[in-house]
Amino acid sequence: MKYKLTLLPGDGIGPEVVEASLKVMHYVAGKFNVSVETQEQLMGGCSFDAHGTPLTEETLQACYDSDAVLLGAVGGYKWENLEHHLKPEAALLKLRKSLGLFANIRPAKVYSSFVDSSSLKREVLEGTNFVVFRELTGGIYFGEPRGFDEQHGYNTMVYTKPEIERIAHMAFKTAANRKGVVTSVDKANVLEVSQFWRNIVEEVAKQYPDIELNHMYVDNAAMQIVRDPKQFDVIVTGNIFGDIISDIAGMITGSLGMLPSASLGSKYALYEPVHGSAPDIAGKNIANPIATISSVGMMFEHSFGMTKAAELIEAAIEQTLSQGYRTADIGSKDDKIVNTNEFTDLIIQNIEVVYNEQALGVFTL
Ligand code: NAD
Ligand code: IPM
Ligand code: MN
Repeated sequence: MKYKLTLLPGDGIGPEVVEASLKVMHYVAGKFNVSVETQEQLMGGCSFDAHGTPLTEETLQACYDSDAVLLGAVGGYKWENLEHHLKPEAALLKLRKSLGLFANIRPAKVYSSFVDSSSLKREVLEGTNFVVFRELTGGIYFGEPRGFDEQHGYNTMVYTKPEIERIAHMAFKTAANRKGVVTSVDKANVLEVSQFWRNIVEEVAKQYPDIELNHMYVDNAAMQIVRDPKQFDVIVTGNIFGDIISDIAGMITGSLGMLPSASLGSKYALYEPVHGSAPDIAGKNIANPIATISSVGMMFEHSFGMTKAAELIEAAIEQTLSQGYRTADIGSKDDKIVNTNEFTDLIIQNIEVVYNEQALGVFTL
């Protein structure tokens, strides 16, 4: 098989983590006799510097013409004061909207060999494994009217019934293959749009009688994720709540540098780490590449149907952590602290080890 992948390394640590994940991607693709042809495009601040816009038609077209898109991150201090539509972040929103990527899937899994390195206690964390379904092309991020003048600033949080239905269906279907519990997160005690969200989710739930549905207010959900993350299986929520909840999830699993994501629609797919461009550590070869490498795993699974390739990548990450290797963001004094490139090479070595350890034929498509 041959696939076409558009790369959008972006700004800050984006290019560093994309380069790392590509090494892993090509190595794994080779193991499965799949070839992935890549094409790099500018997006974000780097595109603004080169073309005066954070997203060109050429970049967008390349994404339309691909089987999948892999993004590093966009943004940075340099572009913070640009007009809204010229900011690097505006490019990401336009890309998600243009590709119709309404479902952002952010799995929060704790690697077992990492439990003692988290800021949470082992007994709280051990066994945590939930996934956030964040609605990605609606809500307050895109609602009209929006703007500000000398006296007002305003945005509009709006959801249509079909927008809620399609993300809810995805969450329920996923829960059916997991522990069978969906938690819908909203702010229905204050916001009408959230009451509407809750009503529609309830309606969709009738089609999934075997799934348990709970509702939780977003402020409580933020607290519960830290207090007892094991209680969650599938969380479904709107755009802005999902943005905030998933950073919290990132931290309980160790570091924002470890949380991958897949943004899916009915036709296109974008894979992006949850973290940003981390300008404070950019260019130092110390960024944690796990989030992006794991996003490549999600690409193998969701876009190429190669579940075994995704499992191989996850097993190799787990193995590397169990050997005591850490990047600076997750390391403490007893760990072997390595840089981005070294960590990536160790993961690749472990891919080879794990691959060979499997009985022949286990990793076939
Ligand atoms: P951030 O995620 O870039 O960084 C937050 C903190 O986490 C920083 O201390 C950073 O060093 C650390 N961190 C993040 N990723 C890491 C990694 N892989 N390895 C080690 N440490 C890591 O969030 P921010 O500082 O709020 O935002 C910086 C810029 O990134 C802003 O311009 C923001 O808009 C943008 N951003 C972009 C995306 C994206 O492109 N998907 C996502 C979030 C933020
Ligand atoms: C994320 C980011 C983006 C978002 C920004 C950079 C537009 O924070 O992917 O979580 O808010 O969706
Ligand atoms: Mn975010």
